[in-house]
Amino acid sequence: MTDVQAVILAGGKGTRLRPVTADLPKPLIPIANRPLISHQLRHLAASGVRDVTLALGYNADRFAGVEHDAADLGLDVRIVVEPQPLGTGGALRWCVDQGAFDERPLLWMNGDVVATPSVAALSAFHRERDAAVTLWLTSVRNVSEFGVLELAADGHVQHFLEKPAPEETDSHLVNAGIVMLDPRVLDRVPPETMFSFEQSLLPKMVGDREKVYGLFDGGYWLDTGRPRHYLDANRHVLEGRVDWWPEGTLAADGLWEGEGVTRDAVGVIQPAVLGDGVTIEDGAQLFGRVVLGRGTVVRSGAQLEDCVVFDGVEIGHDTEVFNSIVCADARVGDGATLDGAIVGARASVGRRNELRRTRLWSDVTLGDGVLVVDR
Ligand code: GTP
Repeated sequence: MTDVQAVILAGGKGTRLRPVTADLPKPLIPIANRPLISHQLRHLAASGVRDVTLALGYNADRFAGVEHDAADLGLDVRIVVEPQPLGTGGALRWCVDQGAFDERPLLWMNGDVVATPSVAALSAFHRERDAAVTLWLTSVRNVSEFGVLELAADGHVQHFLEKPAPEETDSHLVNAGIVMLDPRVLDRVPPETMFSFEQSLLPKMVGDREKVYGLFDGGYWLDTGRPRHYLDANRHVLEGRVDWWPEGTLAADGLWEGEGVTRDAVGVIQPAVLGDGVTIEDGAQLFGRVVLGRGTVVRSGAQLEDCVVFDGVEIGHDTEVFNSIVCADARVGDGATLDGAIVGARASVGRRNELRRTRLWSDVTLGDGVLVVDR
């Protein structure tokens, strides 16, 4: 048991991932058939954390299943729902005002990151330095969309640059959305006000040379905010690059399978995750890195590779689905092609349409053979 409490921020709108996030909060999007936040909760439980607060806002009522999951893991979960979006700092301060935290170090995780940081190592680093804030860092090639940190040898943050141009810094170390902090720091966030911790309080603390530290240990990290990264995260879990487990049982031929799956053994190449009740008709081909949600049906002649298909989807005869995301209860008609596409929940793609690098909104119906998009 570790002497750390945790909070997961899960109230954002996830605009960059629309229409996937049109009615599903980003922390609930499935990664290898489990909600992303369920993987995070498993990691926290395995790390000995017991007290976890979920800071919710947008579509908060969708998280009921997660509460049950957390209880099964032996976690004590507290749900805090904001009256309106308050940003990261405002959301954390709202939790303080609801009495969610005690005086123990607080591990803050964004609900959209795929990472398994060592909570014990982060906590030891934080305590040894008597830090106010310790950021768990990752390293990225292109830093222009991130908060970049320059560190002294002992990890003390010397400079913080928000979304710098390449010539402004040599550092590639960025805030990974995983932070340990002394909860008293949050008393400095204005109550019930939209407030970004990273853009307002953090730069001020660094500028004032407060005890803000960064820890870089080279651990796996990916932010699922963009569609390509979301697909990458699924692929990496399937390939075992990150210590998260797909739902289902690992079959002898290397596939993760739920209950009641019907499939032709020849047509499915691993890695793949097949949810409960999936049907893959003879003659369909899954060429690897494919996730199929519960009850999804893949008709004969279809070809799939590097894609995530949610629950209750029908993929028609002779379709091609590559590098794509198909949301729950959608239908892809016979002979259609999806490549780099997102099909929203309950949408219907008529036969022989070709969607390349295209997003189709939820609930839309495309007639047969009406569209060839090739951007
Ligand atoms: P984009 O709209 O695509 O930028 O996504 P987002 O709304 O999720 O924002 P961002 O990726 O910056 O958010 C990082 C994390 O903070 C995510 O886990 C969000 O769910 C969470 N978050 C963002 N804004 C808020 C907020 O106002 N309240 C709460 N409770 N969480 C938030």
